[in-house]
Amino acid sequence: MTEPDWAGPVDRDRPSAARMYDYYLGGMHNFAADRELAERVLGTMPEGRLLARTNRSFLRRAVLACAAAGIDQFLDLGSGIPTAGNVHEIAHRANPSAHVVYVDNDPVAVAHSLALLDDDPRCAVVRADLRDPAAVLAHPDAHRVLDFDRPVAILLVSVLHFLTDADDAYGVVERYRQVAVPGSMLVVTHGSSDVELHAGVGAAQELYQGTTNPWGLRTRAEIERFFGDWPLLDPGLVTAGAWRPDQPADPRTASLPLLAGVARRP
Ligand SMILES: C[S@@+](CC[C@H](N)C(=O)[O-])C[C@H]1O[C@@H](n2cnc3c(N)ncnc32)[C@H](O)[C@@H]1O
Repeated sequence: MTEPDWAGPVDRDRPSAARMYDYYLGGMHNFAADRELAERVLGTMPEGRLLARTNRSFLRRAVLACAAAGIDQFLDLGSGIPTAGNVHEIAHRANPSAHVVYVDNDPVAVAHSLALLDDDPRCAVVRADLRDPAAVLAHPDAHRVLDFDRPVAILLVSVLHFLTDADDAYGVVERYRQVAVPGSMLVVTHGSSDVELHAGVGAAQELYQGTTNPWGLRTRAEIERFFGDWPLLDPGLVTAGAWRPDQPADPRTASLPLLAGVARRP
């Protein structure tokens, strides 16, 4: 069989979080192994698709909130495979001159992001491991597109649960916060063990052990630590569906184990 040209040098037999997430969202950029494991995850955690959609719609509201606060630069760390409502599309609707840098270490996510952006000078895609802030921040494409002397929104949406304490997750986020000047914003969603969990979540976690991206949950207090001394905007750290919902929050989203918050550096 001919490889699709977006596949690049990819281990198609080892599922990845990026491609499984694409599958939950109804995307087409995933392989049989991703779909098979994603279906097993959905078997133990049927709310997986709702979780992905809830995360995605929080991302849209958070980007709009940053834009409304005057932010016109976005560093999207662990940006994923492009799907409906990408950060540059949302940001450009609010401000056509907004600049966006996408960072991911999944080759499929990077290849599709590059194809979608089609040399848009306001945007860049960096293939890098976000656990290496020095490499990300020194990357020439990041510097070409972002001006770190001006406020920037740092997006870490549904990605920090892939970083363990052995990865120095708090130190990594702190280094991104340190380069962000006052007025910058930090947007986070994170799988939480404080929201009442059912047994299926543990089983789903087990299934991810075989992927390129095992994950672990953190408590509310542990998630709050990522914001350091940056105050959280209203309504604080809440379940993603409850963060400034457009309509009354869907009650099903309130029980999803995903906390969301947006903070601003004073
Ligand atoms: C669940 S997806 C979230 C995508 C997007 N942020 C969103 O919320 O819709 C997680 C993404 O993080 C990426 N990722 C995980 N660990 C990473 C790392 N260490 N460096 C860069 N990207 C990473 C995965 O490849 C995947 O695309």
